[in-house]
Amino acid sequence: MMNPSTGILGKNCVACHNSRDRNGNYDMTNYEDMIAKGVIIPGDVTSKMYRRMDKNDANLEGLTSMPLTGYLPSLEVNIVKSWILNGAKND
Ligand code: HEC
Repeated sequence: MMNPSTGILGKNCVACHNSRDRNGNYDMTNYEDMIAKGVIIPGDVTSKMYRRMDKNDANLEGLTSMPLTGYLPSLEVNIVKSWILNGAKND
């Protein structure tokens, strides 16, 4: 999921969320950091990260969708959702 060349999050998020450009103050190449900051919560799609990716989330309260360039295709968002619900393994 996080692999920069093959993972959905790696391909679409790491360009801005990495150890140098820590937008939103976290590094998506650092799995432990994301878990520690509650950006990803295994089994829980109310995490900040998933909510910003979900175009059906009506409660974003003015926060920008992620990635900043617009929502990912629903197919990819659903893959991320299943990954989170299946424990968000560090893969
Ligand atoms: C083009 C740059 C860019 C890309 C690509 C991008 N982000 Fe962001 N992200 C930002 C910026 C800038 C902020 C800080 C401003 C804000 O909170 O809206 C941010 C903030 C966030 C936050 C808020 C963190 C917090 O603690 O409030 C989350 C969650 C997030 N991004 C997730 C993602 C995810 C998931 C992806 C990929 C699907 C992604 N971002 C792709 C630029 C980007």
